Amino acid sequence: MNSPLNSPSKPTELVGAAPDPPFTITFDGRRLDALPGQSIAAVLWSAGILSWRTTRGGGRPRGAFCGIGQCYDCLATVNGRPNRRACLVTASPGDTVTTQEGNGHAGFEE
Ligand code: FES
Repeated sequence: MNSPLNSPSKPTELVGAAPDPPFTITFDGRRLDALPGQSIAAVLWSAGILSWRTTRGGGRPRGAFCGIGQCYDCLATVNGRPNRRACLVTASPGDTVTTQEGNGHAGFEE
């Protein structure tokens, strides 16, 4: 039986987990630390970034709202692909995330 004096100090010690090592992604050129399994929204939040898109009409800032893939407020450009829901995309080493303006196709329209 664990007493407060000999109980594990970290959740990973409780389950014997051995998570993969942390890695980095970039957001608008800024290097951010990420943990395996984190969504891109979670990585941004962890770095104190709450907004990574602007609205089409008024250019107002948006970030994660629902966190479950329903509201589309969290759209971001990930590795050059616009309109990715940051709350659903799992971060991968070396991902390049950039702020998305409007519909995310400003650089792609003819
Ligand atoms: S926060 Fe709502 S879809 Fe991602």
